[in-house]
Amino acid sequence: MSKHIALAGKGGTGKTTLAALLVRYLVESKKGAILAVDADFNSTLNEALGVQVEDTISNILADVKKNNVPTGMTKDVFIELKLHQALTETRDYDLLVMGGPHGPGCYCFPSEILKRHLDSLEHNYDYMVIDNEAGMEHISRKTIENIDILLVVSDATAKGVRTASRIHDLAKTLKIAIGDAYLIITRIADASPLESEIAASGLKLLGTVPNDPVLADYDLQGKALLDLPGDSIAVSASRKLYEKLRF
Ligand SMILES: Nc1ncnc2c1ncn2[C@@H]1O[C@H](COP(=O)(O)OP(=O)(O)OP(=O)(O)O)[C@@H](O)[C@H]1O
Ligand SMILES: [Mg+2]
Repeated sequence: MSKHIALAGKGGTGKTTLAALLVRYLVESKKGAILAVDADFNSTLNEALGVQVEDTISNILADVKKNNVPTGMTKDVFIELKLHQALTETRDYDLLVMGGPHGPGCYCFPSEILKRHLDSLEHNYDYMVIDNEAGMEHISRKTIENIDILLVVSDATAKGVRTASRIHDLAKTLKIAIGDAYLIITRIADASPLESEIAASGLKLLGTVPNDPVLADYDLQGKALLDLPGDSIAVSASRKLYEKLRF
C-alpha cells in the first residue's frame, strides 16, 4: 500500500503549491516511487510541476461513453486500457489528472471502475500526493478511500484557521479513514498571533510557509515550482515541514 498524503483547504490558500513542493521533497529525498494525483476540477498541479498532460480521467471516460467498444473486448477492459492513457510519466514521478465533471454534477464515469483503477495503480507507488479542491469531491465520492496524512492549508487569518478546522471536521464526516491531520499556514513567518485560534481548531500545527516573492513571480510567469532554487523561501520552509512528517 502506498502512503496517501492529501492537501485540502479553502481556495487559493496554497494547496497546489504545497502539493508540488511535496512532490519535489519526496523526489529530492529519494523516498520512493511517487504518484501525484490532481483531484481538483480546475487542474493546475501539472503547471506547478511543469509537465504537459495529454488527457484527464474524466475526459477519457466521457469519450469511452460516446465511442463504441471494439469487438471482442468487454467495456470494463476497454475502459481500463484507456485509463492508462491518463497517466503522465516523468523520470522522477507520475501524474494522474482526474478532471472535472461533464455537466452539472455529472462525472460521466462509473466510480467503481475508477476506484479499481486507482487500487491497481496503488501497488506501483510508495507515495500518492493528492491535490484536492476545497470540497474534496473525489474523496467524498470515495474514489480515493483513505488518507494517511491530511494537510489542511490555511491563509494567515483567524477566519482562515476556523475554515481549515471546518474542512477537517467535514473530512471526518466523509467516513473515509484519515490518519494524521495537520494544519499548515501559508504566507506568514510566525504563527504565534494565531495561537489561540490554532489551539481551538483541533488541528496540530505542522508549521508555516512564509511569503515567497520568488515563488509568486514563478507562478506569474507560469514557471514550474520544481525549478525554484533549492534555497528559496518556500522550498526551504516546506522541506522543514515535510521532514517533520518522517516519511
Ligand atoms: N508561500 C507563498 N508565497 C507567495 N505566494 C504563494 C505562496 N503560496 C502560494 N502562493 C501563491 O498563491 C496563489 C494560490 O496558490 P495555490 O494555487 O497553490 O493555491 P490553491 O489552494 O491550490 O488554490 P485553488 O483553491 O485555486 O486550487 C498562487 O498564485 C501561488 O503562487
Ligand atoms: Mg489548487
